[in-house]
Amino acid sequence: MNILDLIQKRYTAKKYNAHKAIPQEKIEDLKEILRLTPSSINIQPWKFTFVQNPEMKAKLATVSMHNTEKINQAQLLVVFSVADDLDAFQKVVENELPQARKDWYNQMKASMPESDLKIWLAKQVYIALGVGLTASVALGLDSTAMEGIESDKYKDILNMAAYKPLFAMAVGYASDDDFNRLETTPKSRRLQESVIETI
Ligand SMILES: Cc1cc2nc3c(=O)[nH]c(=O)nc-3n(C[C@H](O)[C@H](O)[C@H](O)COP(=O)(O)O)c2cc1C
Repeated sequence: MNILDLIQKRYTAKKYNAHKAIPQEKIEDLKEILRLTPSSINIQPWKFTFVQNPEMKAKLATVSMHNTEKINQAQLLVVFSVADDLDAFQKVVENELPQARKDWYNQMKASMPESDLKIWLAKQVYIALGVGLTASVALGLDSTAMEGIESDKYKDILNMAAYKPLFAMAVGYASDDDFNRLETTPKSRRLQESVIETI
């Protein structure tokens, strides 16, 4: 299927088939695809937590606002977190990034307040969500992006110290009676002429 067909086909699943397992190799592909996400100056300020364990997923589901049922039904929950303890992240930069990137990052860090730096880091994580949603449909999987999570409670449950959960993505196979399927709920977007300018 070409990329336009895939993007037209992708939609937000609202009800999953809880019994249809995702082949593990697709999950492993998704891990590698997320790792390859591009980011500004290649800073990669993220952690992707793949939750397949049903008990852990159920715990997270209870602190996920209107998304509880979807998370319980979906076979996989990926939690996207951003580096939040900047001293700890400095060590990651020092140990894992090439010299030119370290220098860039240190310059950026020196040039803006910590609050702005954190906003910039979080923006990078959203790029991975776009990659993850597109990759899911390409792998033949349905998905749900979810900002509707309680970040602090996720952080506690996942026992995270240096990272902060920002949003999550449920992945699995949509239920046959998912009301949000394109047959029942056609895609709704602003017109191309109002969002695209060609010069
Ligand atoms: C960053 C982000 C956060 C979202 N959060 C939720 C959510 O918490 N729960 C949910 O059911 N849908 C959520 N959505 C789905 C959007 O409502 C959906 O993508 C949008 O209405 C377009 O519909 P489509 O994805 O089916 O094309 C989110 C989407 C994005 C990109």
